[in-house]
Amino acid sequence: MALAPQTPAVLPRHVAIIMDGNGRWARKRYLPREAGHVAGVGAVRDVVRAASDLGLANLTLFAFSSENWKRPKTEVGALMGLFRAYFRSDMDELYQRNVRVRVIGSRARVSNDIERMIEDAERRTVENKGLNLTFAFDYGGQEEIANAARELARAAKEGRLDPETINPELFATRLFTSALPEPDLVIRTSGEHRLSNFLLWQSAYAELSFVETLWPDFGRKELLEAIENFAQRERRFGAVSDAVA
Ligand code: FPP
Repeated sequence: MALAPQTPAVLPRHVAIIMDGNGRWARKRYLPREAGHVAGVGAVRDVVRAASDLGLANLTLFAFSSENWKRPKTEVGALMGLFRAYFRSDMDELYQRNVRVRVIGSRARVSNDIERMIEDAERRTVENKGLNLTFAFDYGGQEEIANAARELARAAKEGRLDPETINPELFATRLFTSALPEPDLVIRTSGEHRLSNFLLWQSAYAELSFVETLWPDFGRKELLEAIENFAQRERRFGAVSDAVA
């Protein structure tokens, strides 16, 4: 049996993950969907530790989409509770690991205590220089792009911006992710082949990796495999091979 790779030769600068399959993981065990999300938090913990151990610079996890509010109230409540519990239980460890925590998304519908908890975590870890860990929470890519367009349109209308100067670089400065490099690798678990409104602008040139593993079963080994696979791909950014350094 082949051993799991330990130190990949090429590390992507930014890995983003659509964590999918918690519900199916639970159903296979005749458990309620919430139990799948509980197990999903375990996978979050494993993957964050692995990314931090590997020296990965940026990891972004899709924790709650702007569409997830449409789920049954009990499930939404369970997800909010898990997010709260994770921040409470893991923040000390994240801080010790020199992880900088960010949360991107709309804060409009999030409860006040979660908003405060997010602000505290971001403030506490702001000087940390290790892994940049970003949770996309109440996040939707189209909404993010529309917000950026609205901001630029307002600036133009008020005479603070010449519309002719708008280009992709300027546009990107108005996105939640302005402080992060674009993801080089986007992983989606559970065999679904969709982006589901995740980092739409930012993933323009990302390598996409769709893996069959359900999120609660995804861990250090699976992360390493995805990174190894990424290292073997040829990235051309629209050019021909020789033109890319
Ligand atoms: C998709 O599984 C996953 C989610 C909706 C959210 C991911 C949430 C977690 C991993 C737990 C909480 C997160 C943190 C950061 C503490 P699904 O329910 O859509 O699965 P299914 O497609 O099999 O139904």
